[in-house]
Amino acid sequence: MELDKFRVALIGCGRVARVHAGALARSPEADLAVAVDIRRERAEAFAAQYGCEAETDWEKVITRSDIDAVEICTPHYLHAPMAIAAAKAGKHVLTEKPMALSVADADAMIRAAEENGVTLGVIFQNRYNTASQAAKQAVDTGEIGAIRGARAFLTWNRSDEYYSHSDWKGTWDKEGGGVLIDQAIHTIDLVQWLMGPAVELFATYDTRNHEIINVDDVAEATIRFANGALASLYANCYYPYDADVFVEIVGEKGLIRILKDVAYIKVGNVTRTVEPVADPDQPTLGPGYWGQSHAKQINDFFRSVRAGERPYIDGYEGKKAMELVLAMYQSARKGQWVKLPLTEPLLPPEVKGLKPVAARAGE
Ligand SMILES: NC(=O)c1ccc[n+]([C@@H]2O[C@H](COP(=O)([O-])OP(=O)(O)OC[C@H]3O[C@@H](n4cnc5c(N)ncnc54)[C@H](O)[C@@H]3O)[C@@H](O)[C@H]2O)c1
Repeated sequence: MELDKFRVALIGCGRVARVHAGALARSPEADLAVAVDIRRERAEAFAAQYGCEAETDWEKVITRSDIDAVEICTPHYLHAPMAIAAAKAGKHVLTEKPMALSVADADAMIRAAEENGVTLGVIFQNRYNTASQAAKQAVDTGEIGAIRGARAFLTWNRSDEYYSHSDWKGTWDKEGGGVLIDQAIHTIDLVQWLMGPAVELFATYDTRNHEIINVDDVAEATIRFANGALASLYANCYYPYDADVFVEIVGEKGLIRILKDVAYIKVGNVTRTVEPVADPDQPTLGPGYWGQSHAKQINDFFRSVRAGERPYIDGYEGKKAMELVLAMYQSARKGQWVKLPLTEPLLPPEVKGLKPVAARAGE
């Protein structure tokens, strides 16, 4: 028997939305019911392409009884108010990264979901990459031994036109920063996921090669983790092209290198290579540097909602990289080490039947 699919309202029909819509078009779990954009022509173009309704007023759409969930693909400063209102209206929420621009807002999103009995998920699709899953397993099983350190590099290209064509990118109030909170947050998420909890960090940032923005277009950070290891991070968005992201985790017995979506896991003299596995049902829907795992995460989110499980990347998980980024901005402004967590952490409630994240790796 075919299950009733979740009916989704997609809020924000800009660049990333087509990846969400393409994933929903092939999803066994959920259907795109309404495309919402404050710019009517975008909502209508989307609706025509994906065979759904078009709306311009998200607040009206979240009150509809025929909508089960929202996927939020709007500018960063709108994620928290939209997620909180949708949760209060009884809708499940899957938001794009970063989940919010402050820890208080992220916590309010988590609380709103819990208090209203709905599920909150945050997109960090690269955790679902085959390479990332293999790396996580190599860390968690002790294959590379106790972790000693890490380094990560993101050097991409975002032109002045990229910023001038947007009414929110490159602004502190709407984007919440630059290369750290928008592009490098994926890399920061992978590093913290593999390294475990961070305890303190020191960072610097600058605007060096863009005329029209004053957010960070270059940043570096030293992050100390609870296991004593340090990670070194470097990011900029004025490189000539979107170079493959590099992450390396060094253990006492071996090391892991991830270059874009391929992992090289070396233990002793033996290196195994983990390549991405193409899914014939899921064509690449966005630029290559966005990766290919949005559809995996979107399907897994709705599968976990149906099963009554916490999603793989819930609000608590989604908050971690955001909190590191906020700490980096604080550290750079103060010129000091900043301790983590930034505020007293929220603790997840007991969830019956919850499988630990590690046990589900590779699903
Ligand atoms: N996971 C990834 O790899 C990835 C990739 C790209 C973007 N993103 C994220 O996706 C989100 C959107 O980014 P984008 O590049 O698609 O931005 P975008 O500017 O192209 O699209 C945002 C859309 O939201 C609409 N919008 C703005 N205010 C609205 C409102 N009040 N109601 C309804 N619609 C509204 C805009 O009209 C626009 O069409 C951001 O959080 C970004 O960080 C994630």
